[in-house]
Amino acid sequence: MSGQEELHNSPIGVFDSGVGGLTVAREIMRQLPNERIVYFGDTARVPYGNKSKETVTKFSRQIVRFLQTQQVKAIVVACNTASAYALDELEKEVDIPIIGVVKPGAKAAIDATKNGKIGVVATEATINSGIYNRYIQENDPNAQVLGKACPLFVPLVEEGLWEDPVTDEIARRYLTELIDVGIDTLILGCTHYPMIRSTVGKIMGDQVTLVNPAYETARELKELLREKGLESEHRPGLGTELYRFFVSDAADKFQKFANSILTYGILSAKVINIEEY
Ligand code: DGL
Repeated sequence: MSGQEELHNSPIGVFDSGVGGLTVAREIMRQLPNERIVYFGDTARVPYGNKSKETVTKFSRQIVRFLQTQQVKAIVVACNTASAYALDELEKEVDIPIIGVVKPGAKAAIDATKNGKIGVVATEATINSGIYNRYIQENDPNAQVLGKACPLFVPLVEEGLWEDPVTDEIARRYLTELIDVGIDTLILGCTHYPMIRSTVGKIMGDQVTLVNPAYETARELKELLREKGLESEHRPGLGTELYRFFVSDAADKFQKFANSILTYGILSAKVINIEEY
């Protein structure tokens, strides 16, 4: 097999602080069915959303090093917090294509809004970084962007309380101020949040378009692979492991969660010591 051919058949590396990035992996599986994926969930160090830029960058750098040992041909930072805090640094350090979820999410929101009032729900880190405001206003200076940190959403999702009176109540408290200012578009700016999409949608009402950056991210990835000549040309043959999952802790819990959201049943998740990278 030639070097170029090998590269075509190499997997895409996808990572998140935990299970949230699976919503992005799911979309990549759907839109790029020929691509292999190596997923890493940092289950030992989740959440990232309340940590500093330095810490999130250090963690992300270690994960990228690990993914590179898996010969990935491109990397998707399937975490808004890591995209907000670490992507600029990572882009300088790696020589393979690397994309995050924030730019694609901002683009999708600009395309969706009619009244120019865009809400963003995300972790404290993503909101404090102001990154969605920056990307949106660079492309549409008239847009008004309202961010709301929703720190309790990640634990609720991780506990599996996707449709539950507790989640309803908390979501209502977080979202009321966004309803009051009349946004017509809401970015689910944390990869965990698509799991509670129906709760958020019910509270925001039909007049508000919910944007899940995962869709646009997978589309951009497809475009990027095509541009760089890195697309896998056919579905890997029988016996090739299409998707592989690694975590830094609690593989069983991760596996159970992943199996509940991916149509492809995952065989196993392997624990690695990410501190070694
Ligand atoms: N899923 C991550 C994100 O998109 C955040 C979860 C966390 O706080 O670790 O921001």
